[in-house]
Amino acid sequence: MIRAYRACRPPLAGGLPFLRRCTTGRVVLCALCLLVGATSRALAQDEAAARGERLYAKYCSNCHGDDLQNNSGVAFDLRRLKADEHARFVNSVLHGKNAMPSWQGVLAPAQLDDLWTYIRAHGYEQ
Ligand code: HEC
Repeated sequence: MIRAYRACRPPLAGGLPFLRRCTTGRVVLCALCLLVGATSRALAQDEAAARGERLYAKYCSNCHGDDLQNNSGVAFDLRRLKADEHARFVNSVLHGKNAMPSWQGVLAPAQLDDLWTYIRAHGYEQ
């Protein structure tokens, strides 16, 4: 970036056409950076959701149903959780609720994040 900037500095005065060319170049460069950033963010989300899916299958699917389908019928349908209910999710998972056990000390905060990403990726309301 720094080298690109230096290369684009107009030589002394009056480098207007040159400047214009460089500005276009920088805009393209910026667009590319944004694109790469967005793609890698999307990939990171996918990886978190995949980790969450594995955690879910191991710890939660017994009661909440395979693939979040709630087919056991005994527990809450996690797909009902809304985007703004993260605090409720963390609180219920860490402290338990009625027949729902507490997962404090079993699941690390990063694992809760992965579970949340997985659950939200399949939520009824996005
Ligand atoms: C032993 C069965 C069981 C397991 C295993 C289980 N749950 Fe639950 N879960 C329940 C039941 C039953 C409820 C409904 C509690 C109620 O409202 O009475 C519930 C409710 C919830 C709720 C909603 C609570 C609320 O705020 O209303 C969340 C979130 C949740 N479970 C997440 C999880 C996650 C994540 C896992 C895996 C780490 C998990 N549960 C594993 C039985 C279980």
